[in-house]
Amino acid sequence: MKQFTAARSGPLSGKTSVPGDKSISHRALMFGALSIGETRITGLLEATDVLATARIVAQLGANVSRSDEGEWIVAGRGVGGLCKPDEPLDFGNSGTSARLMAGIITGHDIEAVFQGDESLSRRPMGRVLTPLKQMGLSIPDSHRDTLPLTLRGAAQPIPISYKLPVPSAQVKSAVLLAGLSSPGDTTVIEPEITRDHTEKMLQYFGARLDIVDGENGRSITLKGHPILQGKPINVPGDPSSSAFLTAAALICPGSDITIENVLVNPTRTGFYQTLEEMGANVTFENHHEQGGEPVCDIRVQYSKLKGVTVPPERAPSMIDEYPILAALAAYAEGQTVMQGLAELRVKESDRLAATETALAACGVDAHSEDDTLIVRGLAENVPGGGVIATEMDHRIAMSFLVLGLQAQEPVIVDDISMIETSFPSFFTLMESLGARFKATS
Ligand code: S3P
Repeated sequence: MKQFTAARSGPLSGKTSVPGDKSISHRALMFGALSIGETRITGLLEATDVLATARIVAQLGANVSRSDEGEWIVAGRGVGGLCKPDEPLDFGNSGTSARLMAGIITGHDIEAVFQGDESLSRRPMGRVLTPLKQMGLSIPDSHRDTLPLTLRGAAQPIPISYKLPVPSAQVKSAVLLAGLSSPGDTTVIEPEITRDHTEKMLQYFGARLDIVDGENGRSITLKGHPILQGKPINVPGDPSSSAFLTAAALICPGSDITIENVLVNPTRTGFYQTLEEMGANVTFENHHEQGGEPVCDIRVQYSKLKGVTVPPERAPSMIDEYPILAALAAYAEGQTVMQGLAELRVKESDRLAATETALAACGVDAHSEDDTLIVRGLAENVPGGGVIATEMDHRIAMSFLVLGLQAQEPVIVDDISMIETSFPSFFTLMESLGARFKATS
């Protein structure tokens, strides 16, 4: 295991940008594979999760090539045109790839073996398999709902109307992707709005979707059998990655950084809304559009923060940001209460438990009650000094490396290897702004 130590750092400063958004990168490769013609992608996140998706769409018959850093071309096979892979599909650590690909396989008359690493093999697939089975997916020889699994798609998938029992963009996307190969209308109803990159990108590639917001949430209806046409995609910076840089600048006195070109789609900005309530000095400049998504530059200056209550309805728009928010809450005055965190239990680790344990290891009083996490802020007096068990979770590793940047004693993170699944340039970028880390083994 590769251990790293974060030590007390001076002010962070400078202009930088973060790598491409992970959700959009996965979808660009997958939807490119389901399109006719070429999809030219720039700014693709070249992290192991996304590289797994690239490898898998190639195994399914798309022609995938890399021309330069972040520049990829996918020559697709059209909706329903993917072919049976010769080898198992290895999803590594990537839940998004596995869940969305289960939807794609459902819409193809082929069989594929799905496998993943230890963390992914513990994560529930039942949430996507339940609606996909209604659409015609079969799972020969297994009653499990975790990988490894053999999935058999349908020759003639059935369109369904499905109300999401959990707020999950992955489940929504899996059903819509299976709906591409189904005749007629496939509808997903989401009581709580989740990230909408699938809807936006499918429309951009030529699919017809009717999206209606009502009293009981959002209803998304896809017309089956569209002809998707490959298109250029320029992937904006990942707000979930920029959250680590933002938090680091907020806690290191004297910091002033700008992160350029960050995605600010409203289904992803709950973290920034929360920072505003905490009194953070964060400003959004140079608003523009990139590939149909809102983007801007984010300026962050050191700020004294106050504890807040984050309501449960905000959880879907900041679901990946709770570990870093919890680390930041340790530096606030007063208590931060985060509600509605049940989904954190089924991420790359049980993030609620991992965050609570890691805070305790750093001398911060934190406890969870059901799906609520409460952190008692210590302002500038965060002891640190702990060894963090990352539990194969990249976001736990990065969150506690950031926490260590102002702690009184260095913080050791027991394994930084998973950071490459989403943010391989984390150390280089953070160090270029002035953060101090040291390899300890
Ligand atoms: C993602 C959706 C979210 C998020 C994950 C990426 C996506 O998962 O946590 O990192 O790209 O659709 P859920 O849909 O399970 O909440």
